[in-house]
Amino acid sequence: MALRLSVVAVLLLLSAASTTTTTTAAPAQALTGCSDKCGNLTIPYPFGMKTDCLLRKEFFINCSHTTQPPTAYLMYSDLIVTNIYLDEGELQILNDVGRACYDEEGGYQTDRSIKPQLLLQPPYTISNTKNKFYAVGCDTSAIVNAFRGKEEFITGCMSICNSLGSVEKSCSGVGCCQINIPSGLYNLTVELNSFKNHTRIWNFNPCSYGFIAEEGLFNFSPSSFEDLNYSALLPMVANWAIGNEIDTCETAQKRLDYACNANSNCVNRPIDGSVGYLCQCLPGYEGNPYHPDGCQGDL
Ligand SMILES: *[C@@H]1O[C@H](CO)[C@@H](O)[C@H](O)[C@H]1NC(C)=O
Ligand SMILES: *[C@@H]1O[C@H](CO)[C@@H](O)[C@H](O)[C@H]1NC(C)=O
Ligand SMILES: *[C@@H]1O[C@H](CO)[C@@H](O)[C@H](O)[C@H]1NC(C)=O
Ligand SMILES: *[C@@H]1O[C@H](CO)[C@@H](O)[C@H](O)[C@H]1NC(C)=O
Ligand SMILES: *[C@@H]1O[C@H](CO)[C@@H](O)[C@H](O)[C@H]1NC(C)=O
Repeated sequence: MALRLSVVAVLLLLSAASTTTTTTAAPAQALTGCSDKCGNLTIPYPFGMKTDCLLRKEFFINCSHTTQPPTAYLMYSDLIVTNIYLDEGELQILNDVGRACYDEEGGYQTDRSIKPQLLLQPPYTISNTKNKFYAVGCDTSAIVNAFRGKEEFITGCMSICNSLGSVEKSCSGVGCCQINIPSGLYNLTVELNSFKNHTRIWNFNPCSYGFIAEEGLFNFSPSSFEDLNYSALLPMVANWAIGNEIDTCETAQKRLDYACNANSNCVNRPIDGSVGYLCQCLPGYEGNPYHPDGCQGDL
């Protein structure tokens, strides 16, 4: 609790210190007096970078200016946000590639390995339509551990091969396997195991990899065995919504904190296992349905 309070105090100081206002002809994306840019990333309301610029605390974006261009982190996490999609209720974030590396004798190399924990939690869930789970390696078994609703969920795939020559140029099961994931996953961890600690294939593949990635943005080829060694982050898509698992359009519309404004519609998240609702401009209207000004008609 003390930690949470001090973070809020820092945020209040930050908002008092900065008074940047942007005026543009396009419909406002952020609240009046609030910036809508972190570098070249647009941060539309309900997201915001200061306490009085966001709808709920889970829509806080930490825009860190210690990097050039600035980096947008989701809430208080180290997940980097690279796109916010208002209409779809989606977010593109960068996710760690899980890695388990071995030395020539089959000893596990702790310093070169990464055990990813994707600690997203509702109203954020992992998109099942935009992502796949991939495991890369020739002595590799990868397990996804996650929550779905209140239940624990486990899935995964494995890939065993003997030579680089047998590895295909697409993720088809030799050197790389991919699986669909169900909707509504959150709090996800990846566990990598091997059968012979990569000893028989070490000369061309000393590491196993496992990760969720946006479909189409990871293209497997035999060089992935080395490439993944360096690119530790890959894009993936998370779903977001307003509210929690008990919020539907029907119940939310009766409450004072209903988030859909003028000329917009409420839509329930259609996917099983997901939470809350989204707002969308009525046909013929455009803008930001979450903004107090609502959506505007064609001028
Ligand atoms: C944002 O900036 C980065 C680096 O400056 C650039 O690579 C990227 O293409 C830019 N994105 C857009 C949407 O302009
Ligand atoms: C924002 O991110 C930076 C860089 O990771 C971190 O140092 C800082 O504590 C974060 N701020 C908040 C409010 O989480
Ligand atoms: C194989 O790797 C596991 C960790 O993944 C380790 O506990 C075990 O000692 C290793 N076996 C050998 C023979 O080094
Ligand atoms: C998900 O992770 C968060 C952060 O570690 C934790 O507070 C929460 O209890 C976890 N939820 C479940 C269902 O394990
Ligand atoms: C992976 O990177 C490490 C250093 O980060 C390097 O020592 C190793 O040779 C690389 N492995 C491959 C297969 O490229």
